[in-house]
Amino acid sequence: MSTNDYIVIEQSTGLHGTVHLYGAKNAVLVIIASLLLTKGKSRLTNVPASDDVLNMIQLLENLGAQIFFYPDEHLLEVDTSTVTKWQVNPEIMKKMRASILVMGPLLARFGRADIAAPGGCVIGSRPIDYHLKNFKKMGVTLDEAGDYISARADLLHAHRIVLEYPSVGATENILMAATLTPGITTIINAALEPEVMDLIAVLAKMGAKISIEAPATVHIEGVGALQPIEHAIIADRLEAGALLLAAAITGGTIAIPQALAYTMDVFLLKLEEMGHEILVGPGGLGVTLKATKEPKAVSFKTGPYPSFPTDLQAPMMAALTLAQGTSIVEETVFENRLVHVRELQKMGAQIKVEHNKATITGIDHLYGASVIACDIRASCALVLAGLVAQGSTIMTGIHHWTRGYDGLENKLSLLGGSIKMYADQEQTSGVAYGKPEMSSVEHITKQ
Ligand code: EPZ
Repeated sequence: MSTNDYIVIEQSTGLHGTVHLYGAKNAVLVIIASLLLTKGKSRLTNVPASDDVLNMIQLLENLGAQIFFYPDEHLLEVDTSTVTKWQVNPEIMKKMRASILVMGPLLARFGRADIAAPGGCVIGSRPIDYHLKNFKKMGVTLDEAGDYISARADLLHAHRIVLEYPSVGATENILMAATLTPGITTIINAALEPEVMDLIAVLAKMGAKISIEAPATVHIEGVGALQPIEHAIIADRLEAGALLLAAAITGGTIAIPQALAYTMDVFLLKLEEMGHEILVGPGGLGVTLKATKEPKAVSFKTGPYPSFPTDLQAPMMAALTLAQGTSIVEETVFENRLVHVRELQKMGAQIKVEHNKATITGIDHLYGASVIACDIRASCALVLAGLVAQGSTIMTGIHHWTRGYDGLENKLSLLGGSIKMYADQEQTSGVAYGKPEMSSVEHITKQ
């Protein structure tokens, strides 16, 4: 994506239809990293062709893996038998925070990992102290020079790890390192998001010995070696949330057969409290939403799963700007994840922010404006607002959109949304992997 790329969204009444879900970005990134624990060829299906996935593919290729990606089929084949490096490319580390998730597998495989601190982003400083201090407890020595960290462990040893906060990334990194560490490692206060559970399912397929004990304790008994696997990535609850909200905000109806209702119970509860009709398929597979014409204000607080997911906070806020009454949204996971408020205010939204709390007073309509996406989920919020705003909305900063979603603009367009991406032809990311021409993308003709 180049900086002069943008998305134009026009007012769209009532998105309708049935739409397919791809696999979860926050599952596939860590699962690709976990393949470093094996030596052989694994096969992942339902893989989203988002830019973050392309970045993770590039990272593993840089370590020596041989990778074949078929984005049309959402199929990824990864051969890690040729991986010989443990130094992670600093440029890639800086591009994508999730790169930190190769640290655990590299330590387990090589006893070493050279990484660059991933750095913060707009939603928060996003430190990695939980990762580092617990790796030290497992016998890792860290040599930190500026942004660069050289991690060494002659022998990782099992430990009883207590996480002061159920960090998704720290849980995943320690989990992966522990699978090949002799003895039983225990993680107390582990994160058990659906994406973490999908990683645990993959590790178990590889031959890892993992058990989970209430309330949030994970035991990992180290084994000698892990085997390559085949796996279908879990459906993306965050893409499902975006699609449900697109129907909700435009007064439409949508059916998502692959949506796993159990992965977003609190979110669905809040949609029902707004007055939208939610139908869940048998066994919790499949979600349909029939929008109410008079949505009511609701309040919520984000938190670790199964609380309301922080990654749906911004998109939900877009819908609340037009709900009758006053909503209060409290963001407790990241210290600065209300930056999308300023952009929604440009569109006429009535929102006041005090510390980590936003008070939204519902209004009759938004109006189109030029807005800037500053993180993946903020980009989703602005697209949703644009679908219902009077007039045109032009969104820049769309590298966030393409990092987090695989052609979501196409799905919205097929549902009746008026949305078009204008991307610089040479730099449309993913072309290198033969990403299909996006039907709703018009290339900026070179002047
Ligand atoms: C994962 O990030 C997701 N990313 C995030 O999704 C998601 O918002 C987040 O989990 C929470 O659910 C991926 O899975 C690739 P955390 P992660 O460690 O692992 C603090 C998206 O839009 N913390 O659970 O980085 C941290 O600063 C992205 O898809 C420390 O203080 O999240 C934050 O305040 C955004 N020290 C809180 O914990 C640490 O060592 C939760 O972070 C680690 C985290």
